[in-house]
Amino acid sequence: MRLLIDGALVLTMDPVLGEMAGARVGVEGQDIAFVLQQGQPLPTGWKPDRTLDGRGRLLMPGLINAHTHVPMTLLRGYADDLPLHTWLFDHVMPAEGRLTAEDAYWGTLLGAAEMIRAGITAFADMYFFEDAIARAVLDSGMRASLGRGLVEGGAPGNLEDVRFLHRNFEGAGDGRVTTMVAPHSVYTCSPAFLERCASLAGELGVGIHVHLSETTREVEECLSTHGMTPVALAKKTGLLEGHTLVAHAVDLREGDVDILAATPGAVVHNPQSNQKLASGIAPVAELLARGATVALGTDGASSANTLDILEAGRWAAYAQKAAGRDAAALPARTVLAMATTGGAAALGLADHVGRVAPGFQADLVLVSLDRPHLVPSYDPCSTVVYTARADDVETVLVAGQVVMEKRALLTIDEERVLAEARERVRKFAR
Ligand code: NI
Repeated sequence: MRLLIDGALVLTMDPVLGEMAGARVGVEGQDIAFVLQQGQPLPTGWKPDRTLDGRGRLLMPGLINAHTHVPMTLLRGYADDLPLHTWLFDHVMPAEGRLTAEDAYWGTLLGAAEMIRAGITAFADMYFFEDAIARAVLDSGMRASLGRGLVEGGAPGNLEDVRFLHRNFEGAGDGRVTTMVAPHSVYTCSPAFLERCASLAGELGVGIHVHLSETTREVEECLSTHGMTPVALAKKTGLLEGHTLVAHAVDLREGDVDILAATPGAVVHNPQSNQKLASGIAPVAELLARGATVALGTDGASSANTLDILEAGRWAAYAQKAAGRDAAALPARTVLAMATTGGAAALGLADHVGRVAPGFQADLVLVSLDRPHLVPSYDPCSTVVYTARADDVETVLVAGQVVMEKRALLTIDEERVLAEARERVRKFAR
């Protein structure tokens, strides 16, 4: 299948290509075949099977939600206005004990529908029932890196589950699904267990996905139990030697930023969840200034209540500016990079995902510029980050497949998904 997207204003997020007005983007199979300047002829003999009109629209790489627990869509709004430990241990975990694999499948499709509608093409997940989640990812057409959340001595979940997920789903859907080893945190896993997770990730050749330093309580408890911060403990147990996705990093102490900046992985900032659970504001501007890779996530929809990355980006920018009393902190261009190339790096896919460039996966989003709140647009990055809303996203491709066109979902039966979700949460009614 050859598809041409002609005439859009393209935010390539590629350092060489930059922004291109009226560009011609050719998609062949899963990949971007070429990105041409306005008016340039198509490659000799290259005829598109179909053409999408890009005029009056902005084309950019698909947004990436680099930290979520996607079936928690079913617990959206279930326990609001509580601090993390009460929210998690007294409300969320007991409810999660009543979830089934089929609930997780439908909860994931619900999240996939929400994310595709918000221009999100890929996400990193940590949860249980990851095989059901993987099936939903494959059915939805999305891209995801999945990790079976490992809580020692809590809900069942062990390293055999990780091997099972890896054996059955690594590379599935022509590479759309990848897997990670996902120990939940230093407060739910022992150092010995974290070491086993690190060596399993090395053995399987996959990344690690972990929550670190989300709250001051977590950091203080870790200091008193282990004599070091969660970040230092992660380093000591080998968790930060390979590719590791560190979710949160809100309460960082002396030395933590240096450790995170030196790791080959990425930090994922979750501004809505951190603010709503009153965890605090992560030092994102400092992490970036010191050379860390930072991506954006929403966290689960039970803490953030939405999986919207445009909204996360805006919250991130505003919080950094306000907290640092610095209007120049986290400018629009940086926020968009976090949501695209940063997200791809967090998922370990930076070499072929996150840019509109030849050879990259055709994970693409067309945004309408023809709406009152988007006019005028002096700087398209500013328009996307500070003004655009999820419902300005018109058309979405993942790996060359059109998954939403003119706001119609093509891979998900939305009516059925909403009905299943409503039916399945009846057991949580209070
Ligand atoms: Ni989380």
